[in-house]
Amino acid sequence: MDPKETPPLTLVIFGGSGDLTRRKLVPALYDLWAEGWFNTHSRILGVARRSKTHQEFREELADGIRTFSRIGTRDEGSFHAFLSRIFYQAGDFDDPKTYYGIRSFLNDDSVRSDTRGNALYYLATQPSYFIPIIRQLGAMGLSTPREQGEGTPPFSRVIVEKPFGRDLESAILLNTDLLNVFREEQVFRIDHYLGKETVQNILVFRLANPVFGSLWNRTHVSRVEIRVSESLGMEGRGGYFEEAGILRDMVQSHLFQVMALTAMEPPVAFEADSIRDEKVKVLRSLKPLSKDEIEANILRGQYAPGKIDGIPVAGYREEPKVAPDSRVETFVAMRIEVQNWRWAEVPFYLIAGKRMSRKATEITLHFREYPFAIFRLAHCEDRVPNSLTIRIQPNEGISFRFGLKRPSAQLHIDPADMDFSYEKSYQGSPPDAYERLLQDAMIGDSTLFARNDEVEKAWSYITPFLSAPGNRPDPLSYTAGTDGPDALAEFLGRP
Ligand code: BG6
Repeated sequence: MDPKETPPLTLVIFGGSGDLTRRKLVPALYDLWAEGWFNTHSRILGVARRSKTHQEFREELADGIRTFSRIGTRDEGSFHAFLSRIFYQAGDFDDPKTYYGIRSFLNDDSVRSDTRGNALYYLATQPSYFIPIIRQLGAMGLSTPREQGEGTPPFSRVIVEKPFGRDLESAILLNTDLLNVFREEQVFRIDHYLGKETVQNILVFRLANPVFGSLWNRTHVSRVEIRVSESLGMEGRGGYFEEAGILRDMVQSHLFQVMALTAMEPPVAFEADSIRDEKVKVLRSLKPLSKDEIEANILRGQYAPGKIDGIPVAGYREEPKVAPDSRVETFVAMRIEVQNWRWAEVPFYLIAGKRMSRKATEITLHFREYPFAIFRLAHCEDRVPNSLTIRIQPNEGISFRFGLKRPSAQLHIDPADMDFSYEKSYQGSPPDAYERLLQDAMIGDSTLFARNDEVEKAWSYITPFLSAPGNRPDPLSYTAGTDGPDALAEFLGRP
């Protein structure tokens, strides 16, 4: 059996009528099905408040699959066979009746003989429902499935969507509730960035290439920039963003995960706990900042009206469900230091912003220059510091910048790039992050999911930056469609 082949199970999605289910989860499951990875005996049970029939639910999801599937639905027979595995159960998330319904679905003889009693719960609801759902699952005994005769005992696992808490205290409470009901190895805290091919390539690039691996330290690197820029604004999520802000929405999760993979030591083995041990060590090494140092090490911004691709767009304060005097950040740049043997005194800049000029997620390592620039003696002042950029998305690839002599009678040094592009080297689009992560949760591999201590360490660093907006300076305004506030270049200490 291929280790990536998934066992039969029932995937119970709480928040079955939500956007995430329609746009991401079910299209990803369908793509796994179309490629033969989703076990044909499995079932999907959507749970949400509104009442509807299985058929109505299937039609809603079919529409999402047609729009968002990577593979497409040309094979009608296979598409309809997939839809027939989908079921719906209406109910409130805090009502025990909902869970009686789920339990009778899971224990139905025809379901059990197909799924061997395996269950995977996916919490894709608003975060305020996470704890009530976990408690109800525990109370109904759904976290420990009923054994059935001989053979491998059935499993039950839970996937928890982000945001995992809204600060350190709430993350600890959520972890406590989860671990009262499930064991850590049953819990899969999802961060979809870890499912991206190019994020997984960070470790392969570092650890499979001695030339680059040997440069990966303070002796050669002068600073590291990790940037997640989006040209999108609120897309109807203004109410959520007013509560979250970009530190909670992007930095605590996605940027910290990418930073930890960039900075970590090689693991003792390429498996879940060894990798997560090293990521936690990075988070434990972050240099603590005093109250006074915090504001000096963060630049906060908020977008004002501007243009994206020549089209006028509203400012953050004009977005629906956003207060007209909101002080919530839609952009941050943070300077942090990983205080360990490898990285001491190398600044790591984490930059995230909405309504920037373009979508770009990139990691750039800037390398030190020679202390003695010999070409100055020949009156050439040109400087091209070496840098390595890993493009996570879009235009996925890696490029290395170096200086070369401009063909001319005079001495000039120009920048040039050695560039690798995934698109040019590989045909077809890689699996979506959710495909990879759902498949891993189904087979029980937690390497690409966050462990409880990882999440808590990330929150313990971020929480002091989250003080109430009234207790910190107003965010600087930047025009939508630009690269952030004007003060950014100085903050980054760019030469
Ligand atoms: C989500 C955030 O986790 O990630 C969104 O809540 C953000 O605000 C999204 O737009 C970005 O994901 P991606 O995969 O498009 O980079």
